[in-house]
Amino acid sequence: MQGVPAQCLKLSGSALKSLAFLMSGVLGCAGFFVSESVSAQNPKLIDYQISADSVFEPLGGRVGVASRGAQIVQTRNGQCTLCHAIPGFNGQVGNLAPLLEGVGARLSAAQLRLRIINSSVLNPQTIMPSYYKVEGLVSVDPKWSGLPLMNEQQIEDVVAYLVTLK
Ligand code: HEC
Repeated sequence: MQGVPAQCLKLSGSALKSLAFLMSGVLGCAGFFVSESVSAQNPKLIDYQISADSVFEPLGGRVGVASRGAQIVQTRNGQCTLCHAIPGFNGQVGNLAPLLEGVGARLSAAQLRLRIINSSVLNPQTIMPSYYKVEGLVSVDPKWSGLPLMNEQQIEDVVAYLVTLK
């Protein structure tokens, strides 16, 4: 009789241990999974400095390519034509926003950059999407949570294109 409880104890002891091991494994996995997916969905946005109505430094030091920017602005990728008419673009456009014709003459690259990154800094009521913002947004599908509408390279490509609209 003496050996039984001891064995039980031993068994339950090791059962407990393996349960604890399993739990820690599961929790560890869950922790790992959560932090993985959060970091995958929350790529840290690069810090940028707003001076007056401008952002002078290219985001992440990226060099914009105007032809790629044109592609973003004139297609559904950027959705810009939902609201803006764009010179040289003959598809259907919206009229909820100023014509982008001549915008590269009216505004500098630095001014354009802030307007694409986060127009609501300049006009909290604007309907223009903040293309490089992940916080303070409402009704975002969890699938997209933490992801900006455009990445640093796309922002710079769009800025490079807008500058050409003299
Ligand atoms: C849902 C509508 C909407 C969409 C989509 C949109 N914008 Fe705008 N945008 C506006 C409005 C409205 C303004 C006017 C400024 C304001 O509301 O504060 C504006 C202003 C601007 C300005 C400043 C123009 C000026 O003359 O001062 C630029 C540049 C601009 N948008 C570029 C873009 C680009 C590029 C895209 C796509 C990547 C885009 N917008 C998508 C609504 C939109």
